[in-house]
Amino acid sequence: MAEPVLEVRGLAKHFPARHGLFGRGATWVKAVDGVDFAIHAGETLGLIGESGCGKTTTAKLILKMEQPTAGTIAFEGRDIAELRGRDLMDYRRAVQVVFQDPFSSLSPRMRVQDIIAEPLEIHTDLSHAAVRARVDEVLGLVGLQPDVAPLFPHEFSGGQRQRIAIARALATNTRLIVLDEPVSALDVSVRAQIINQLEHLQRTLGVSYLFIGHDLATVAHISHRIAVMYLGRIVESADGDALCARPMHPYTQALFAAALPSRPDDQGQERAITGEVPSALALPSGCRFHPRCPLAMPVCSEVEPALTRRNGGGEVACHLY
Ligand SMILES: Nc1ncnc2c1ncn2[C@@H]1O[C@H](COP(=O)(O)OP(=O)(O)OP(=O)(O)O)[C@@H](O)[C@H]1O
Ligand code: SF4
Ligand SMILES: [Mg+2]
Repeated sequence: MAEPVLEVRGLAKHFPARHGLFGRGATWVKAVDGVDFAIHAGETLGLIGESGCGKTTTAKLILKMEQPTAGTIAFEGRDIAELRGRDLMDYRRAVQVVFQDPFSSLSPRMRVQDIIAEPLEIHTDLSHAAVRARVDEVLGLVGLQPDVAPLFPHEFSGGQRQRIAIARALATNTRLIVLDEPVSALDVSVRAQIINQLEHLQRTLGVSYLFIGHDLATVAHISHRIAVMYLGRIVESADGDALCARPMHPYTQALFAAALPSRPDDQGQERAITGEVPSALALPSGCRFHPRCPLAMPVCSEVEPALTRRNGGGEVACHLY
């Protein structure tokens, strides 16, 4: 298989939280705690998990908005920590992001044309006329007319604003877009339109996506492969179809049970989990999921399960297998 576009190995980010009693011993929030994955050209990797499990921190590490505590991120075979000068500029151009809330990511005082032109002006040396032409081109790619260019973000609906954010992310001939909950704030009908647009753009342009979400149906729809994250670790990953057909980790099963409409005969109900995700400040011993797992065994609170090959492809970290 061709070299991945992005390859993440042993990635960790520990934030200093506070100092212990009498100021001795720092406490760490292990937001990301040893994560591996790869994304290939034209592929979508879905990253799913409950709030606080480390998805956005993973995104920020890839975008170099945070520095890793440990591990490496390689883009097209090169460690991004080593990139300098022109190479770093190329990376910033090639990897873009769309966040959940376009209102906060699109400057309210900038016109659409300037919002989309900004990454072109920072990361390329295109002429003014070439930048304008590129703005019109990417607006067309996301289904907007060139005449919206002089308008401000508040003049658009939520779905249109997210199209503008996608246009901005595409402007620099991007090869990977990190989509951090890009449709979570949108109405269901608009969500489907944006997802279809993203799929169409991927087929046309061959761009890769890291699609972060907590809505399983949406992530499963758009992703070729899915990685399930819990408290800073990936607990299961597989091709989207294989994972949906046979979720193996009790946490993945619980996410599926929660996503399905409840029926009286629903076997999945037995597998539903309750309670909150424990704090990343005080991680449970052994398997991080054991305090909430309906299938936990004595070994689970003592020994952390390693990722092992899953039947039918992919990997799972659970003592049941
Ligand atoms: N700058 C920071 N300093 C300290 N702790 C942080 C920082 N950023 C994130 N965290 C903590 O790291 C953990 C993971 O946060 P993160 O935002 O990555 O989760 P998430 O999976 O994106 O959640 P959500 O679904 O709510 O967006 C949380 O416990 C969060 O409080
Ligand atoms: S290792 Fe044990 S606690 Fe963890 S998911 Fe598997 S069965 Fe549940
Ligand atoms: Mg997040």
